[in-house]
Amino acid sequence: MKNDGGAVTDLKNERQGRTSIKASYTIYVGAVLFLVLAVAVVLLSVSLSSCHKSAMRVDSRSTVSHSLKILKQPLVILLSADGFRWGYQWKVATPNIDRLKRDGTEAYPGMLPVYPSITFPNHYSIATGLYPAWHGIILNSFRDPTDASRKTFFMKNDTNPKWWLGEPMWETVVNHGLKAATYFWPGSEVAKGKWTCPPAYCHRYNESVPFATRIDTVLSWVDLPEAQRPSLIAVYIEDPDAEAHTVGPDSPEISDAVTRVDAVLGRLLDGLERRKILQDVNVIMVSDHGFVGTCDTKIISLDELSAAANTKLPAEWIESVTPVLAIRPPARLAAKKLKRIVAALNAALASGKVANGKFLKVFVREELPARLHYSGSDRISPIIGMVAEGYKVVVKRPSGPDCGGAHGYDNTLASMRAVFFAAGPRFARGKQVEAFVNVEIYNVVTQILGIKGVANNGTRSLTKKIIR
Ligand SMILES: *[C@@H]1O[C@H](CO)[C@@H](O)[C@H](O)[C@H]1NC(C)=O
Ligand SMILES: *[C@@H]1O[C@H](CO)[C@@H](O)[C@H](O)[C@H]1NC(C)=O
Ligand SMILES: *[C@@H]1O[C@H](CO)[C@@H](O)[C@H](O)[C@H]1NC(C)=O
Repeated sequence: MKNDGGAVTDLKNERQGRTSIKASYTIYVGAVLFLVLAVAVVLLSVSLSSCHKSAMRVDSRSTVSHSLKILKQPLVILLSADGFRWGYQWKVATPNIDRLKRDGTEAYPGMLPVYPSITFPNHYSIATGLYPAWHGIILNSFRDPTDASRKTFFMKNDTNPKWWLGEPMWETVVNHGLKAATYFWPGSEVAKGKWTCPPAYCHRYNESVPFATRIDTVLSWVDLPEAQRPSLIAVYIEDPDAEAHTVGPDSPEISDAVTRVDAVLGRLLDGLERRKILQDVNVIMVSDHGFVGTCDTKIISLDELSAAANTKLPAEWIESVTPVLAIRPPARLAAKKLKRIVAALNAALASGKVANGKFLKVFVREELPARLHYSGSDRISPIIGMVAEGYKVVVKRPSGPDCGGAHGYDNTLASMRAVFFAAGPRFARGKQVEAFVNVEIYNVVTQILGIKGVANNGTRSLTKKIIR
């Protein structure tokens, strides 16, 4: 060190025009300095390039999550847009969805709903990680044959915990001593275990509340002091489902609804960015199911079916007509008789005597394709009819046209696909993951929050692919 210092002093002296130093000594010092500088440059460039390489590695292989900068605890915000079919993101400009995709991970092509592809069963599958047969909400409206009261579950207003089985993620979160908050997520008003839907953290359903108000409330939860801030926030908006039922999925009204959904996401992302915490928050946008256009000629009438099959289908047996035909004959009817009814119905449907008959297939519940996981509950009617994409079952054929949109069909149909876009410290940038069923999301959320979830139908291997 001392020698180097001396050399530097000597060099300075030389630059100042002192010529008393021997030329050979100057050359020696110059060579040493050159060597030192060259080594420094090489070392610096090696370290810069390895730095660059490791940054690239994080991005492309996505093995490392980036650490929180401002928040002390992980935060997940789960936003659901009802009926946002995979592909709607290309209907109109969706700058905020594009941003979430660019900064994060998407399910491609889309995310699969559970069967039946309707709102309540799917939102509750997302919340619990369970297929409907195990979480209990098997349709938007149904009866439990083992329930003496003979009451019907009705999605709009029923918060009796007896219907809602399984453990939704907000309950898991509070069971671990963390806070959760919900804004209209189906099932979130139901008191279960330590989750009581406390007014400060849980809103009772009121469809008139503007979307902007919902997002602003979410941001106010984010603003709470660390000890009160929720670790999980789940928020629901009705768009673009509501319109699609009447106008179908391909009308201009739906494009407008998609624009509104994108603006809702934008309000959330901008709000987080203004708070300088966007990088710390795991924002997950999902939907529950897709949509397909339906029209009056695609109808199968139960009256026509009953007559052609020479089989009585009393009104009190019919628990649902469309998109799931659910028939519950009296419990005393033997299994053999059930099979005979199903065989008669299927023969009539195939006979050509029932208009559009070939687009409906009827099953004894236990004989439904296993991939649907739709037989393990008494709440599912013993006879189930699956209707083809875009078709509807009605009791009586309507006189006028009946065009619009529907969902609830086979969950593997492309038109029923939902979306999954997610960005944040636990999601890789610009990554696509193969399409997965929404029962995976429960594990994704509990893993991000670092808590142990309860047994469910998600798979650990997929969770590993979705988060880093
Ligand atoms: C829900 O609303 C339906 C229809 O208005 C009604 O028949 C039912 O009794 C209500 N259920 C509850 C639990 O309030
Ligand atoms: C529902 O929300 C609207 C709009 O915020 C509000 O005016 C109305 O009072 C609310 N209804 C109930 C029953 O809270
Ligand atoms: C779903 O999870 C529940 C709870 O762990 C389990 O009882 C059930 O067998 C699972 N169903 C499937 C299809 O894996």
